[in-house]
Amino acid sequence: MHSPSLSGTSQADCYRPLFLPTVLIGDSNLGGISSTISSYESLLLRGYIIDAVLLFREDYYRNWEYLEQYFAEKSVHLFAVDPPPLRLSDPSADQASTQQYYDNLIRNITPSGINAALDHLDRCHSKRIEELVSMPKRTLGTIWWPFVQHGLSQSEKDVTVIDSAHSDFFSVYRPQENKVKSLLTPEFDGSASWWTQTVGHAHPSLALAAARASGRYGHVMFPQATHRPALNLAERLVQDGPGKGWASRAFYSDNGSTGMEVAVKMALRAYCVRNNVGEEKKHLGVLGLNGSYHGDTIGAMDACAEGVYSCEWHEAKGFWFDPPSVGIANGHPGITLPPELSALVGENVTSVSSLSWVYDVESRLRSPLAKTYHTYIQDKLKFLQIQGQKFGALVLEPLVMGAGGMVFVDPLFQRIMIDVVRSQAGDEQSSGWKGLPVIFDEVFVGLHRIGMESTGPLLGVYPDISVNAKILTGGLVPLAVTLASESIFEAFWGDSKASALLHGHSYTAHAIGCEVANETLKMIQTLKTSQAWKDAQAMWSQVESSKAVWSFWDPGFVDAVSQLPAVKTTMALGSLLAIKLQSDSEAGTSKQSDDGVVFMFCQVTRRCLHRLPLLPCGNTSLTSAIFRLPLAALHLQPIIGLLARLHTS
Ligand SMILES: Cc1ncc(COP(=O)(O)O)c(C=O)c1O
Repeated sequence: MHSPSLSGTSQADCYRPLFLPTVLIGDSNLGGISSTISSYESLLLRGYIIDAVLLFREDYYRNWEYLEQYFAEKSVHLFAVDPPPLRLSDPSADQASTQQYYDNLIRNITPSGINAALDHLDRCHSKRIEELVSMPKRTLGTIWWPFVQHGLSQSEKDVTVIDSAHSDFFSVYRPQENKVKSLLTPEFDGSASWWTQTVGHAHPSLALAAARASGRYGHVMFPQATHRPALNLAERLVQDGPGKGWASRAFYSDNGSTGMEVAVKMALRAYCVRNNVGEEKKHLGVLGLNGSYHGDTIGAMDACAEGVYSCEWHEAKGFWFDPPSVGIANGHPGITLPPELSALVGENVTSVSSLSWVYDVESRLRSPLAKTYHTYIQDKLKFLQIQGQKFGALVLEPLVMGAGGMVFVDPLFQRIMIDVVRSQAGDEQSSGWKGLPVIFDEVFVGLHRIGMESTGPLLGVYPDISVNAKILTGGLVPLAVTLASESIFEAFWGDSKASALLHGHSYTAHAIGCEVANETLKMIQTLKTSQAWKDAQAMWSQVESSKAVWSFWDPGFVDAVSQLPAVKTTMALGSLLAIKLQSDSEAGTSKQSDDGVVFMFCQVTRRCLHRLPLLPCGNTSLTSAIFRLPLAALHLQPIIGLLARLHTS
């Protein structure tokens, strides 16, 4: 089971990608009960389906008697077969005796004989196929999918049955497809399962971490309590993670949306306490960028402008600037300005010398564009204030707005937004945050999704509150953390319970999530020094001088795609690749990607990348975000060829 394979990997891990039906051969000797059960648990931990346990009917230790009962309780059939005869010194006598043994085995038609075992395995196999085949219909009858218009997905072939997942692949059953070789086909998880996957699906180290914590704690409530996984994680994040240098507190919740709800609550309270805001607090809004997304809970939605995802109760509470965005068009990096800014600058797109220049925020602060941004943001804020709008926080998705369209925002614009709100007068004497509390929503970009652990060092400024989720737990279990500075924490300090942060969830700081997060962060530390990362960074260092600008995607590929007629712009950072197509339809939202070009692009890339399920996001931009990209496995050249053909077909 755990004997090393040729590569040194445990056999249980080595064979896991095949996900074959499994027969566990039990041990009938002394210590065999223990080793059989341990092996069974090791297999379960790796997702194996164990159809049967087979062991010798040894009459001294009689392990089969105990194990039969043990496995029956788990609905696993155990078959005990007679042990082979002792080896004889005469080879032909030995052969005859062995032959006799096998003849007896196959003649045995008792319920625990080998024939019964074979019949049982056949039945398990048929049952598994029946279940797979039945799942699309049952799903259409029972499940309510997220983000899916059921009116447009009524056919069984619209259902992707994920039989298992491993590393970067789903193993998928699709009904009504011509299954010549296998009912199951591997499909590349191109969106890294909504950008959660970090070290690949079903990683045994993460599964073990989850088992470790569930065995030790299960779930325990958290107010006025502590436990090792939550405390270690909080210390790591605050002292040596995204909170380093500015945060002092970690607040746990369940997912990115709830993490952002907590962040907004923290910011608004801090603002109100500092500024003695009374009833007006109900009308405080946030400042942000159009296209941002902070989750699907109602508060997180209210921190964004109105969109197709908003619900009936939605009330856009705030003001959102149109952002200037970074992209490579025809091999040249540039900054595309929104209309109001391009009117000031006199051009729509500002060409730049390199991406390294774009991300060198500190040097650009002295550029004419910085001055324009500054004046524009300041004037707009003055105008909004004259109109009576009040703000309690600045909320940003730093560097990349993910779900809202994979917009790579000009980092200089975000830096100047922060500088402007922090320079707002009125609280010069206060320590801690200035002007407005600044929230970084790093749910999507954080923890190396775009190549850096957090965005503060690149922007040259740190937030007062930040949120991490997704990669935090390697894509195994949901967990979010909201980090806050001491001055934000102090806004809730007092002797009355009513002034505390009265917020929590049943599963706040669940030990399994925290333990898995600790393991994930440890693994990322190792990945950072791996050859794959070094190679990717070396590849980009040949074309970009800044260490911050690198990606797992080959710079030559990104450049070549950007030059295709069907493509408007491309951008890549870390594991993220965004390709914006020359189309102005609302793919991915109202028309559910029925736009011809986007649809064809998906088909084309799916064929190349093992049917890569790319996600259409917002206005025709497509993304693929794989944290641990096996570049060698991706056939990039055919994509370029097929994309080129898109234009002519
Ligand atoms: C930037 C950002 N914030 C918040 C969220 C919400 O996270 P969750 O889906 O875990 O609630 C997302 C999800 O994609 C996100 O991209």
